[in-house]
Amino acid sequence: MINTHFCKKIIEHYWSATRIDVLHSPFVFDLYNACIKRTKSNTDFTLIESLRKKLKNDNRIITQNDYGANQSVRKKSVKYFAKQHAKPARIAQIIYQIIKHYQYKNIIELGTSLGISGSYQAAALRKNFKTDEVHFSTIEGADEIAKVASENFSSLELEKYIHQYIGKFDDVLPDVLKKYDTIDVAFIDGNHRYEPTMNYFKQLLPLIKNNSVLIFDDIYWSKEMTKAWEEIKQNDKVTVTVDLFFLGLAFFRKEQTKEHFKLRIF
Ligand SMILES: C[S@@+](CC[C@H](N)C(=O)[O-])C[C@H]1O[C@@H](n2cnc3c(N)ncnc32)[C@H](O)[C@@H]1O
Repeated sequence: MINTHFCKKIIEHYWSATRIDVLHSPFVFDLYNACIKRTKSNTDFTLIESLRKKLKNDNRIITQNDYGANQSVRKKSVKYFAKQHAKPARIAQIIYQIIKHYQYKNIIELGTSLGISGSYQAAALRKNFKTDEVHFSTIEGADEIAKVASENFSSLELEKYIHQYIGKFDDVLPDVLKKYDTIDVAFIDGNHRYEPTMNYFKQLLPLIKNNSVLIFDDIYWSKEMTKAWEEIKQNDKVTVTVDLFFLGLAFFRKEQTKEHFKLRIF
């Protein structure tokens, strides 16, 4: 079925995105050049992408108890989840660059799936820090999917950088957040609906600091998600937002005036 909201919004985005040569904000200009602009591949990218390739050929059948927007139980192959759920390399590599460039170390991800985006985040942490200097948690509701993610983290020797939690976000998130004094990055990539997204945003807010960034996936996937994104942009604590269409970045830097940017990544 064609997602007309998504199609309409992608056309709007491509017409209204800011041209990089007229980008006036030094902060966003630096963000673009250091994290968003396409970069050369590196060993981390090669290893994670070769794992993705393997997963795309993995015929093992696993069960997903979907606590997200679909609310169903489905039995599908690992290759199905690798193709349908994992963030594409271009998107995951932007998150990797953000974590590496700003030397972020306290990170939480909602939605592990097979661990592709989690592997990128952990690999970025490994570039700057030792295991005991960082705190990265990732939460997944479907235990059989989380088990495959755990194998994947081990195969990339990243497991020491990752705390995996299994359970519904609603049940697990409050206790996981108690383990943090501050959050540098939260990547919200599951349960793409208005109420839950706003609920996670509100739970994360008390832990954000001036340099933090909240990253929301699929902000144009549905009208509900776009409503949530528009409301997040208006929140008093949010200053700069950067809309990459597939991801929405919300920053809290008090030194910036409130301003919303749209940038093209493809
Ligand atoms: C899009 S996938 C995550 C993809 C992953 N971040 C990546 O790029 O590799 C979303 C995941 O969130 C999980 N999920 C959705 N809603 C959830 C909820 N309410 N509680 C726990 N897990 C949930 C789903 O089972 C699914 O595996």
